Amino acid sequence: MHVPWIFKYKPKTLSEVIGNEDAKKKILKWIKEWDENPPEKRALLIYGPPGTGKTVTVEALAHDLDLELVQSNASNYRTADAVQRFAGRASRYGTLFGKKRLILFDEIDGITGSADRGGLRVITQIIKKTDSPIILIANDAYNPRFSTLRKFCQLIKFKRLRKTQIARLLAKICTMEGIQADPEALKLIAERANGDVRAAINDLQALADGKKKLTFDDAAWLRSRDRKEEIFNVLRRIFYAGSVRSALRAAQETDVDLDMLLEWIYENLPYHVKDPKELASAMEMIALADVYRGRIATTQNWSLMRYYLDFMTAGVSASWSRKSHGWTPFRFPSRIATMSRSKAERGMLREIGLRIGRRCHISADRAAKDVIPFLRLIFQINPEMRKGLARWLGLNEEMINYIIGKDQ
Ligand SMILES: Nc1ncnc2c1ncn2[C@@H]1O[C@H](COP(=O)(O)OP(=O)(O)OP(=O)(O)O)[C@@H](O)[C@H]1O
Ligand SMILES: [Mg+2]
Repeated sequence: MHVPWIFKYKPKTLSEVIGNEDAKKKILKWIKEWDENPPEKRALLIYGPPGTGKTVTVEALAHDLDLELVQSNASNYRTADAVQRFAGRASRYGTLFGKKRLILFDEIDGITGSADRGGLRVITQIIKKTDSPIILIANDAYNPRFSTLRKFCQLIKFKRLRKTQIARLLAKICTMEGIQADPEALKLIAERANGDVRAAINDLQALADGKKKLTFDDAAWLRSRDRKEEIFNVLRRIFYAGSVRSALRAAQETDVDLDMLLEWIYENLPYHVKDPKELASAMEMIALADVYRGRIATTQNWSLMRYYLDFMTAGVSASWSRKSHGWTPFRFPSRIATMSRSKAERGMLREIGLRIGRRCHISADRAAKDVIPFLRLIFQINPEMRKGLARWLGLNEEMINYIIGKDQ
């Protein structure tokens, strides 16, 4: 069985949590103050980017100091009542076995919808009179919704980890997994993770799990990942275009090299066009496109470009009828692809994929293909859930609109 390495190598004690030394020191100092009297600020608000160790730090702290951790996360915040119930449970009763208690409201960005004002007010009330230390965690502490709450908290900032710190951790994991890893490969993975330890470990596992060796070439694939996605997107747009014009547009709007694109289409057509007659006719279009490609190459007559383009896109797409059969397994990715008009938007899709991936422990690619279509549906019909999910995933307004398809 494959255990996700982010769980297998989750730090148990504070000393295993890498980086953010200042933040950890401040947290320790604050919690020690509780031994005397409650400190001036009875709550901490830890904030910072995903995957930097905010949650594991609090868990490790409770472990190290032998505190009973009473923990909640976004799923407990669906209504103000739910927040109240958790908070009441956390603050009211004495602890079992006489342990001291640490109350954690994790992922408070997820307090949403009807729970929004009420839920945050409940937490503020509890902080004012709590006898147990309370820690809150958010990605963005400066969200205006937290302005009142903030006044009662000491703020602790978590930063993205440095590339070298992450690479060192990856090296350690490789040693424990018995993988001989090229340090350059680890550096590349660390760099691509942009300070997010969770993302780095997930990428490492995707690339190295089950291997004895991790070479730079294995990791270099990360660099071409965006590129590959881009080609897949264009392919889908051409194969599943609703009209010949949109098939053509797919090729015009990308900066994928056209000769390469032709190769890709040629390679993939047989897998998609099942009817032999249709396949023959689509291949005929490829052949014609290739004829024009040859003419352009020999005559340098670039005005022939439009024919080259027309045949390979509109021609291919018009050759087969599958798209008229309604639903196909590729429909969702192709709709997403149709939306990705510019490079910036493709970047956006990738960014959304990454954020979903971090939460759901899947690749950005899979997130884009498997999750976004469902998110779109949910976002379109249920504004309440949209708000909650968007906060949980850390999506901004622009991303939400993109998913809903407002800019289409
Ligand atoms: N500083 C770190 N040291 C060691 N491992 C880490 C660190 N940060 C993250 N990880 C790894 O990533 C996983 C996720 O970390 P964690 O849940 O603490 O992130 P987070 O900062 O709470 O992110 P989010 O904002 O998404 O909740 C951990 O289980 C651990 O494997
Ligand atoms: Mg967390």
